[in-house]
Amino acid sequence: MISEIGANLKDGAEVIDAGGRIVSPGFMDMHFHLDSVLTMGDPRYNESGTLLEGIEIWAERKRKLSVSDIVQRAGKALRLMVAHGTTAIRTHADVTDPTLTTVKGLLEVKKLYQNIIDVQITAFPQDGILTDPANLELLEKAVEMGVDNVGMIPHIEHTREDGVKSIEEAFRIAKTYDRDIDGHVDETDDEQSRFLEVVASYAIKENYVGRVAAGHCTAMHSYNDAYAAKLYRLLKKAGVTVVANPLINIHLQGRFDTYPKRRGMARVKELLNNGVNVALGHDCIMDPWYPLGRGDMVQVLFMAVHVGQLMSYSELKQAFNLITYNAAKTLRIGDKYGIKVGAQADLVVLDAFDELEALAFQRTPLYVIKRGRIVSKNTPEETQVLNPENNQFTNPRKEQPILRR
Ligand code: FE2
Repeated sequence: MISEIGANLKDGAEVIDAGGRIVSPGFMDMHFHLDSVLTMGDPRYNESGTLLEGIEIWAERKRKLSVSDIVQRAGKALRLMVAHGTTAIRTHADVTDPTLTTVKGLLEVKKLYQNIIDVQITAFPQDGILTDPANLELLEKAVEMGVDNVGMIPHIEHTREDGVKSIEEAFRIAKTYDRDIDGHVDETDDEQSRFLEVVASYAIKENYVGRVAAGHCTAMHSYNDAYAAKLYRLLKKAGVTVVANPLINIHLQGRFDTYPKRRGMARVKELLNNGVNVALGHDCIMDPWYPLGRGDMVQVLFMAVHVGQLMSYSELKQAFNLITYNAAKTLRIGDKYGIKVGAQADLVVLDAFDELEALAFQRTPLYVIKRGRIVSKNTPEETQVLNPENNQFTNPRKEQPILRR
């Protein structure tokens, strides 16, 4: 943990000279799918670019899952994330696979990587809780096996009524086992999909204020403004964190539209302005739902500020909260998080002199520190650019900004 902040600290400690660059508390990814990561093309590619084709391909791929297959792929993804400054992640484990191999594999990964990155696992009923009689039982069994949070996917249930009932079941299990809720909610362009209000209402009724996260929430993009205004108030009251996944949803949403095409992302700017906690997720890397990605939450943030038009100077300055402090609030670890004495020493030494540079240049961090130990280091390659002013080669990465922001 951070024991002291200041100049000339105790002798004998290892010194990292950041050369005036900035240090951030570790980045946090609040929504990811480690079980399907890096399976793209196996058994086939998603040609339509829709969520539904992704689910079909994954249904084929998950029949041949094994623990070692998951450990290998998830481990590689986690190392990519750590290299880019992520020190905590919430992943989903698909629990509609009857063998629950996803849960076994991810529990093993969590343990193996525990000193490098904190991994929280959510039991995620990909195909619905009530679409198959076995699914409810599997969800509960996964929780018994030791996953951290209970998931749901009400918009995939067959009817509106089943969707509501699935939320009820998820809360029942969460309460029974004292787990938080981490749902996939309204990931559709259907403006009639209104499960988020039900989730928020259960959070209040079940005494779960501050213990619920709702991922994607893309239908919100298409709600009318009067309804959206009601929803903001309800979400704030319920202490629900909305987790937007801009890389994936800018790719998957609007696929049934012609033009103008909807962007299909939760209304991040308006949620923030109305006091709702918002965090971000990478969601996928090279899997049936998303063909790209490098495990970099700054790249996720870059997409978020563009799609959500959070591009004013003050919005950009505060944008890093979406992948730091707001996420810590989601995990309810705010008291142990940040750059302050007594906080867990999860730190990122960025290769940038301020937040705007970090977001604009998206360079790999110089160091990533997990609980006081260096877990990633990166020596930037010696880029040399010819400067005609003095006819010398210099490294632009080492230049101080022209304007101090
Ligand atoms: Fe997701």
